[in-house]
Amino acid sequence: MSEPNYSHLIDLNDYPVEWWNKVINLGATIYHHPQRYVQACAGKIMATLFYEPSTRTQMSFQSAMIRLGGSIIGFDNPMSSSVSKGENLKDTTKVVSSYSDILIIRHPLAGSAKAAAMTADCCVVNAGDGGHLHPTQTLTDLLTLKMEKGRLEHLTVGLCGDLLYGRTVHSLCKALSCYAGNKFVLISTPELRAPEYIRKLLRDSGCEYREETSLDAAIGELDVLYMTRIQRERFASQADYLAQKDIYCLTPEKMAHAKPDLAVLHPLPRVDEIAVPVDEDPRALYFKQAQYGMYVRMALILKLLESENHLPVLHGEANAERQCVNPKCILAQEHYLPPRFVQEGGHTLCEYCEERALKK
Ligand code: NCD
Repeated sequence: MSEPNYSHLIDLNDYPVEWWNKVINLGATIYHHPQRYVQACAGKIMATLFYEPSTRTQMSFQSAMIRLGGSIIGFDNPMSSSVSKGENLKDTTKVVSSYSDILIIRHPLAGSAKAAAMTADCCVVNAGDGGHLHPTQTLTDLLTLKMEKGRLEHLTVGLCGDLLYGRTVHSLCKALSCYAGNKFVLISTPELRAPEYIRKLLRDSGCEYREETSLDAAIGELDVLYMTRIQRERFASQADYLAQKDIYCLTPEKMAHAKPDLAVLHPLPRVDEIAVPVDEDPRALYFKQAQYGMYVRMALILKLLESENHLPVLHGEANAERQCVNPKCILAQEHYLPPRFVQEGGHTLCEYCEERALKK
């Protein structure tokens, strides 16, 4: 399969930290001076292909493009498109990308954005690929921290809730581990602890981290508390989900034990892991965070459309002796894709979903 020649955002870690900082700084400039950018994307078209539900990510991308003077096309329900007739990801991507300048994709399978980038004739942005990654939420989180805490380093960050399936958690840990002096407290039940590859990444980057089951035990030491919902749609059974639901709930009583300058973030949607009265606490920044998401996406659209720094989509190698057995990997659905593998800490990982590949 030939490599297209566009800049994509599949995983933030494909880019150096300096590039993230440029996007964040541009997001801050746009936030302060939006009128300077009202024609910046005049004549450009953004397509949003949302195979999974979304409120913020989709609408913040759409309003970002409209505020830049561009136009939008797309679907938010694949069943109203030719996907319902059995069209594969490759064909949908190929065609829609020929109508647009930038394509934003959300899909329930890990590695789907990478797969889309392989055939698209325009740049592709990962707006969430299954339980894997969500890089634009991370840009949102980083801009929020930069604006509200004034720094991205030397923060003690608690991440609480569904650390196993929460793609926003995975992307944020990957990103914050690249800034100096950040410490992590991973607050979850044993069943929903962060995947091994995330814990390994924290160890390898030299970040201090510990795992904790009690939010009460950790809250007093945190500069940032990143709450997440239990990802019901990613559980194998309803019984497994019900066993995890309602375990963590941030309340005003708990907030009383937190630092006066704690930043409470949440990618949203909230289910019941933050009690509604917490919204009145000035440390609750999640609605502001959602708004910053639009500004950072404006910055991202501009950066990608002006970019001449073309990155290859696939980095890994073919390996006839290995196979990806993850049923939630895009390889399990789109059989024309070439399996590719990368070596990571002595293990062979599927390049699409980053799960361990097994010997055939
Ligand atoms: C998150 C997502 O879709 O992963 N939402 C978002 O994009 N803001 C978090 C979630 O759904 O729990």
